[in-house]
Amino acid sequence: MNTVNITFQFEDGQPEQTHVAAEGESVLDVALNNDIQLQHNCGGVCGCSTCHVYVVKGEEHLPEISDKEEDFIDRAVNPRINSRLGCQCVVQAATQELVIRIPPQNFLGH
Ligand code: FES
Repeated sequence: MNTVNITFQFEDGQPEQTHVAAEGESVLDVALNNDIQLQHNCGGVCGCSTCHVYVVKGEEHLPEISDKEEDFIDRAVNPRINSRLGCQCVVQAATQELVIRIPPQNFLGH
């Protein structure tokens, strides 16, 4: 089973952290398992925009973005070209190292 390193960077200035993730785990799972604050109002089922992250490296080996995910990203705070929803970024067999940037979490999400 594939395991990869996920490096988390933080827009609020916290020092970056790197954690190991296994195939089948999402960026949201790995964040929460390591006490990294990432909002997740819908519980990780692509039903909100609060787990919004920026994929700095490794996007090409993540699952393709769905129309539903795109719709929610449009509603996220400050979406960019490399925006994804953390719960939809699931580590695949082909996934290599990921670098993920976490936006500030002090917003009222929906
Ligand atoms: S937690 Fe709601 S879309 Fe990811």
